Amino acid sequence: MYSERNPMIKIGNVEIKKTACLAPMAGVADRAYRLMCGKYGSSYCVSEMVSAKGICYSDKKTAELCTVTDGERPMAIQLFGSEPDFMAKAVEVVLEYNPDIIDINMGCPVPKVINTGAGSALMKNIGLAAETAESAVKAAGDVPVTVKIRSGWNADSINAVEMAKALESVGVSAIAVHGRTREQFYSGSADWNIIKAVKDAVNIPVIGNGDVTDADSCVDMYSKTGCDLVMIGRGSYGNPFIFEEINAKLNNKPYIPPAIEEKMRVMLEHIRLIIELSPKTEELAVHEARKHAAWYMNGCYGSAKFRAKCYQLTSYSEAEFLAGEFIKLQNSRLHNDSQ
Ligand SMILES: Cc1cc2nc3c(=O)[nH]c(=O)nc-3n(C[C@H](O)[C@H](O)[C@H](O)COP(=O)(O)O)c2cc1C
Repeated sequence: MYSERNPMIKIGNVEIKKTACLAPMAGVADRAYRLMCGKYGSSYCVSEMVSAKGICYSDKKTAELCTVTDGERPMAIQLFGSEPDFMAKAVEVVLEYNPDIIDINMGCPVPKVINTGAGSALMKNIGLAAETAESAVKAAGDVPVTVKIRSGWNADSINAVEMAKALESVGVSAIAVHGRTREQFYSGSADWNIIKAVKDAVNIPVIGNGDVTDADSCVDMYSKTGCDLVMIGRGSYGNPFIFEEINAKLNNKPYIPPAIEEKMRVMLEHIRLIIELSPKTEELAVHEARKHAAWYMNGCYGSAKFRAKCYQLTSYSEAEFLAGEFIKLQNSRLHNDSQ
């Protein structure tokens, strides 16, 4: 249950506000995204996943993926891998980027990752999962190591509790539980009972994850699971405001959702940040920004047509123009409705 009297949690020696944090999302929650969510009150974030073996063999993308900036802290760098020796070496490499926490991905469902025995494939091999985590814990020294898991491989093998206990026993400092099986990928709904079962079974902090989309569902997750921290992924798409809404609710403060002008202003700020932080040309950076631009328009009048236009953006000035047109459309509708 969320308690205002105890609004911080501790993962190892790292203090984190007990509000809501941003989930790792490869291809989505990059530095620009994490900074935007941090600005609106996400209390902790995790990097996109990085291959432990890849890091050991090449440093091509390591700096881009592992750099931690002040606006993102506290932040974890997330590694995936299933070979204890490579994991230890990879931890040594990423420690140079000074992360607050090192997280290991044992929940990723995609074939490219599980075919190497990593991600959620480790839910089928708790022994190797514990060995890999232990190797990271030893290499990380004072930096806490956490693990993100799913409820199990499939509905017939729900084993998050057993997995969490094994990970706790080798020195893991917190467990994040996404209440879906690997077989579910992202379909169906997350089972919050399994998050509660893990929380009841271990003494380290448990981070609850899956299907939190607003302040009400965040409060619900805290009260139904007893988790120590709520983690939000897709509910933050085009909606960094979700963290502000949650912080307001948890502190019994009023919350006024952003007007369309403010939403579009923040969308443009996000796109500018993507361009600024990208090593690529403006046009290529805007390609990466397209989906974010479209998400900021979700749920508004006429958004389907405008979202399609977002997927054709090639420059910041086009985005600015589109945002202006979208504001006009929303306001003209308001005007017509009030006639
Ligand atoms: C596009 C996308 C990329 C993801 N990438 C990662 C990742 O790199 N590491 C990870 O542990 N989980 C990853 N996830 C899973 C999320 O962290 C989270 O567990 C999942 O989306 C459920 O939470 P939600 O219902 O709040 O979205 C990803 C999810 C999505 C949708």
